[in-house]
Amino acid sequence: MSFLKPKTHIEQGDVVILYLSVNSMHAIEAVPTIVNKKGETIANIFQTSYGSLKVESIIGVEYGSRVELSKGWAYVLQPNPELWTQTLPHRTQIIYTPDISMILHQLEVRPGAVVIESGTGSGSLSHYFLRALKPTGHLHTFDFHEARADQAREEFKRHGLAEFVTVYHRDVCNLGFTSELDGVADAIFLDLPSPDLAVPHAFKALKLSGGRFCSFSPCIEQSQRCIQELTKLGFNEICSMEVLQQENVVKTRTVPVIDLEFLKSPKTSETPTINEDNKANKESKKYLTSSNPQILPGHTGFLTFATLPPNIAK
Ligand SMILES: C[S@@+](CC[C@H](N)C(=O)[O-])C[C@H]1O[C@@H](n2cnc3c(N)ncnc32)[C@H](O)[C@@H]1O
Repeated sequence: MSFLKPKTHIEQGDVVILYLSVNSMHAIEAVPTIVNKKGETIANIFQTSYGSLKVESIIGVEYGSRVELSKGWAYVLQPNPELWTQTLPHRTQIIYTPDISMILHQLEVRPGAVVIESGTGSGSLSHYFLRALKPTGHLHTFDFHEARADQAREEFKRHGLAEFVTVYHRDVCNLGFTSELDGVADAIFLDLPSPDLAVPHAFKALKLSGGRFCSFSPCIEQSQRCIQELTKLGFNEICSMEVLQQENVVKTRTVPVIDLEFLKSPKTSETPTINEDNKANKESKKYLTSSNPQILPGHTGFLTFATLPPNIAK
């Protein structure tokens, strides 16, 4: 139940983030015992790079506390969508926080919003939608992989989020979203191999009062086909973007001073060049500079956004 609202103390059954360092965190369940492969009930001991934790010992402990491991220590944190994304069990590729921030902002997800998502995948993005639309909105999330849909449903229940989400096992490209969802969605999000095939179904499910659409695709060809379909159906404000994090390096550099006056009025009739004999080249000065790296790694995918205009005939 640890995702529902802020809590002060860890209760039995909570999902807890065991924080060792910024690059080393684990999501654990605060239960005193587990069943091993032989079917025996044994004490729940969690192993980390700083030794073991007897999980029973954290029940009743205040969130944010430092707890002892057999060879060190860690912090116990209440999970939020950002920490969950970093620790969740991967059943598929997932979407990460930088792209998700742009998705939430562009789709204008807010309390009370009705959001449709496909595919559910590992539920990384779903947790952010749920935090943003609670307590009066609803998430309808679809996946055609039955086991993934079941696991996600079970996970939302364990996290105390079941009343805000409906998980459907359904192929949305062939069957669309269910007819009860026609015209009810404030926002639709697609993370599918062929999003263009689901665009006509998104058109049906979106509200006519400016419903927002987004599709995430790793390849530009997927975005291009999606944009063609959106254009054909009369969506507007279509825009495709990439969220890239560019480092800005600020540092003091020693730079040679070029004497521009010297260059303008050379003593000889020859064209001036800056060489070792030029006095101008021997002076240098310190400057505070900023620069960007020549390469920009970090492509995740293209985000295509669009709006369904209010006056369109369905
Ligand atoms: C990349 S994963 C989604 C990851 C998710 N956005 C997250 O952040 O955890 C894509 C999911 O789409 C599902 N999928 C693919 N085609 C589908 C279809 N036609 N209908 C419904 N689900 C589909 C797959 O089973 C897979 O679970």
